[in-house]
Amino acid sequence: MTTLLPCFERPGYFADANCKIALVGFGTVGSAVVRLLYARSDEHSLQLTHVCNRRVARKKVNWIPPEVMWTEDIEDVLASDVDVVVELMGGLEPAHELVRRALQSGKSVVTANKQLIAHFGSELLQLAWDRGQSLNFGACVAGGVPVLSGLRDGLAGDRLTEVCGILNGTCNCILTSIEQGSMSFAEALAEAQRAGFAEADPADDIDGFDAGAKLVILARVGLNLELRPGQVTCRSIKNVRALDFEYAHELGCTIRQVSTARINQGKVSAVVEPSLVPKESPLARVSGSENLVVSSGEFGGDIAFSGPGAGGNPTAVAVVSDLLQAVRHRSNGSERPHRPGAVSREITSDLELPQYVRFVVRDRPGIIAALAGVFSAHHINIDAVLQKPGYAKAELPFVITLEPCPECRLTPALAEIANFDFLADTPVRMPILKQELA
Ligand SMILES: NC(=O)c1ccc[n+]([C@@H]2O[C@H](COP(=O)([O-])OP(=O)(O)OC[C@H]3O[C@@H](n4cnc5c(N)ncnc54)[C@H](OP(=O)(O)O)[C@@H]3O)[C@@H](O)[C@H]2O)c1
Repeated sequence: MTTLLPCFERPGYFADANCKIALVGFGTVGSAVVRLLYARSDEHSLQLTHVCNRRVARKKVNWIPPEVMWTEDIEDVLASDVDVVVELMGGLEPAHELVRRALQSGKSVVTANKQLIAHFGSELLQLAWDRGQSLNFGACVAGGVPVLSGLRDGLAGDRLTEVCGILNGTCNCILTSIEQGSMSFAEALAEAQRAGFAEADPADDIDGFDAGAKLVILARVGLNLELRPGQVTCRSIKNVRALDFEYAHELGCTIRQVSTARINQGKVSAVVEPSLVPKESPLARVSGSENLVVSSGEFGGDIAFSGPGAGGNPTAVAVVSDLLQAVRHRSNGSERPHRPGAVSREITSDLELPQYVRFVVRDRPGIIAALAGVFSAHHINIDAVLQKPGYAKAELPFVITLEPCPECRLTPALAEIANFDFLADTPVRMPILKQELA
């Protein structure tokens, strides 16, 4: 007997009782998606026919009806008559190959794979468009928060100029632990790993590449921008210390990993970096693994989206919502959510922001004068010098805040400063996002 998940009856949904689904990748999100499909089986018209996973025998569960085919061969999925393939394996290959071939063989695709869409979104969207299929990826950014559909549909009437947010829950957990527990980065990372908020290899998260991939997708959907992941400047949070939070508090701020894509006078900046944000700003209030995205529109102003950025169930909701969208497209020809053809623009480093630079030095006379000389030579004005008492002279920390200056002047100035022999540690630089930006 075939298990049909009956019709979705809310007004506006036109379900196709014959919509067959194959799910590839039965892990955290994949299993949550299948549970959600069965939990709401009185409302959906989706028929799960295949579950595909490597070494599949160990994955089998008894709560999935026996007529569903378990396979470890992707060819079984591609050769089948399923209408929609749900890709939940993660990684670039073989996910890219699977999605490309699924679209070529006339199947629609739903994926939660941000790296896949950030790297190959343009090619795959064009392929889907040419083949009359849909490619939906709402779970790729901010997990359960419907930010992509909100930007695409809800704000279609505005011209967006910026998307900015906290896109990585792991970094947010680590930074809030450093702040609240006055612990080192290594201790905060170990705590996040013990609590299951950080992976064994957390490099993609802490160095900003995970948020960078999400920013590429946000820029495509919100700003109609074609960015490559390599065009996003990513700076790690690994050098942020408890001490930086003390100085940030003195400046009325806290520290968050902030991702921003902005169009300014026809040029684009796209950056993921630890940043000082005002304590009263929405970014500062994001705690734990939550995500927040704020869009800025020329006509409608700022709109915020927030909620759980990860986790099996919230992400499964986004995947199933995408599935329903794919079904609507197949059954009544409703518009596909994503069109190919985003626009490439020049990347700029002209954006001027005030900066926080923390130094640790082997103290001796003339250090401030030497630093001031370099900044001055690069036409950068010092705003203030902050130094807390009580530190050993062999490793003396202090902070210089700088008046707004562009990246193209700050980077060479800091490269020159790196040659000074009084530095006991690499200087840490972070932009200070004022209220209107944060
Ligand atoms: N977890 C979240 O909160 C979250 C949020 C948003 C988006 N996502 C995205 O959702 C996707 C899935 O994430 P997840 O957390 O569910 O990962 P996961 O728990 O590691 O699940 C991935 C599943 O795919 C299987 N798999 C991996 N490579 C495969 C291959 N080459 N062939 C066949 N099966 C393969 C894995 O099998 P094994 O058991 O053998 O490893 C595992 O069962 C990723 O793209 C991720 O970025 C996740």
